Amino acid sequence: MANLSYMTPDVRALFGEASAAAREVLVSLPTRDRDLFLARLERWFQNLVDGLGPVYGTRHDYDAVITRLVRMLARQYLERPEPLKLLDLERDLSPDWFQRETMVGYVCYVERFAGTLQGVLERLDYLSELGVTYVHLMYVLRPREGENDGGYAIADYVDVDPRLGSIDDLDVVCAALRERGMSVCVDLVLNHCADTHVWAKAAAAGDERYRDYFYTYPTREEPDAFERTLPEVFPDFAPGNFTWVSAMQRWVWTTFNAYQWDLNWSNPAVFLELVHIMGELANRGVEVMRMDAVAFMWKRLGTDCQNQPEVHDLLQALRACSKIATAAVAHKAEAIVSPSDLIHYFGTGRRFGKVANVAYHNSLMVQFWSALASRDTRLMTHTLRSFPPTPPSIAWGCYIRCHDDIGWAVTDEDAAAVGLSGQGHRHFLSDYYSGQFPGSHARGAVFQYNPATGDRRISGSFASLCGLEAALEARDERLVQFAIDRILLGHALICGFGGLPLLYMGDEIGLRNDYGYLRDPDHAADNRWLHRPTMDWEAVARRFLVGSVEHRLFEGLLAILRARKRTPQLHATYPTEVLDVHPHLLVTLRRNPLGPMLAVFNLTEAHQTLLMAVLHEHGLVQPFDQLDQRFVDTSGEHLHVAPYQRVWLV
Ligand code: GLC
Repeated sequence: MANLSYMTPDVRALFGEASAAAREVLVSLPTRDRDLFLARLERWFQNLVDGLGPVYGTRHDYDAVITRLVRMLARQYLERPEPLKLLDLERDLSPDWFQRETMVGYVCYVERFAGTLQGVLERLDYLSELGVTYVHLMYVLRPREGENDGGYAIADYVDVDPRLGSIDDLDVVCAALRERGMSVCVDLVLNHCADTHVWAKAAAAGDERYRDYFYTYPTREEPDAFERTLPEVFPDFAPGNFTWVSAMQRWVWTTFNAYQWDLNWSNPAVFLELVHIMGELANRGVEVMRMDAVAFMWKRLGTDCQNQPEVHDLLQALRACSKIATAAVAHKAEAIVSPSDLIHYFGTGRRFGKVANVAYHNSLMVQFWSALASRDTRLMTHTLRSFPPTPPSIAWGCYIRCHDDIGWAVTDEDAAAVGLSGQGHRHFLSDYYSGQFPGSHARGAVFQYNPATGDRRISGSFASLCGLEAALEARDERLVQFAIDRILLGHALICGFGGLPLLYMGDEIGLRNDYGYLRDPDHAADNRWLHRPTMDWEAVARRFLVGSVEHRLFEGLLAILRARKRTPQLHATYPTEVLDVHPHLLVTLRRNPLGPMLAVFNLTEAHQTLLMAVLHEHGLVQPFDQLDQRFVDTSGEHLHVAPYQRVWLV
């Protein structure tokens, strides 16, 4: 046993009990195999208890919870299939696997992309053609019947939606993708489960053990007290945060829809259940857990009940669990919150680098749309420059579109810093992307208008928000080209920012809004289905038709992806700096031992110029454009940047 003197005496005692319990579970394993588990347990134990202590440490059964947990982790390791154990070892050796410049993510609804899980197997060549190394399959786990929030109301976390296949198909798909060097990511909805989950049903039937899995109240007193400071996520179709459940004669906390019951994470039984589920999924071959709606996992009276410190502690503990039992698995946090809250999902202070491996860069996404609409990058530059430093072990999940709406997460302070009114700018963006603003090229729809705050979020596909829908209708080739350039600009931004790019299904060929959702009674009320189209494989086939929109977009994207893979400066371990040098260009700098990378993105349809001195100042003497594959002429005083052009200089 290694020297454990770095542990405090009480942690050492806990570790002693826990490792003894693990040994018992693993007794049938060869010594070396067992020792590997124990080595991982020791490596991550401090992180685990540093996360759990602040949350459950004062409970009388705290030690027993830890022992039960470690026994569970040992069982997961015991049951872990050999190929996955090998992957664990590889990832122990290459913990930066998800940070690499070779990583390319693809995000799709299984049903919309391929019909079923088996159907995914028929699309592997397509994913390989794109060079994808990570596939987020939405949604896979069995959701509630009928309305289910796009699959985010889970009725059974360890079963697959029968319309998509069986749980064994999940193993097959994971193995097939792994074979191709693609990691499967699956949603783990942590904040809530469906009202039809067995836990919820048992609670409704009066089982106290399960009632304690949720936040329930006999009267309005406590809900009213919380409501005083709680915002509403779906003010339109699910106002308020509590739902009366008559079977139980109690109010249940439901942040999202009435049928999504918030889980009570102050109960360690809930923690243990979710760890069990993580292990089940990991042992089927899931490599990335997308931890859904994590900001809401902890409630505190008098606050907005988001981003509470306990959330970060719990996530740190969950990550330690994966590291101990199923080491290959990475965690991606879905916290669509403001920049100052977002950074905590990578860990700050004592949690630095210990919380999630990947988190969505919601701000980059919002700022892309904001700068595009205003033809001005000052807010973008200011906001991105204000981000605190990130740990070297993480990667931003960089995206332009996903299955959700766009909320204008622009703070009043950031807006004021560049002379804008926060509210005024947010209104402008909603007007612009809903197509109401004069001259707007966008075809979006307002999602969840909130009269209390004036907020209007926006739905719509990448292509339609970029003007492709309107341009094609107008049969105006100049406008079509602008739309294509805006889309490729977005792709180049997420691929060249220095995180893990997440391409959303259909955006590689410019799928437009799908108005068909209005005919489906389960979807009609939720216009996020506008940008959740069924994959149009005929349009995909047109990627070979030279000159077609699909061909121009697909080839353009492939060129960007190829450039990404040969640009080691894009490994995520080095931070991205944003230079404050131009009101219409975004200029990023990535310092790297191999030499710097300076990327320039023109967010306008006008020609722009950048002082050559900026390049020289950052060591780019003979700059080579990775995207264009040519040296840049530095004889003049300026770098010329064409409308919507993107340049990656090394
Ligand atoms: C996440 C999902 C979103 C869902 C919500 C509630 O934000 O991306 O689609 O509505 O969580 O689960």
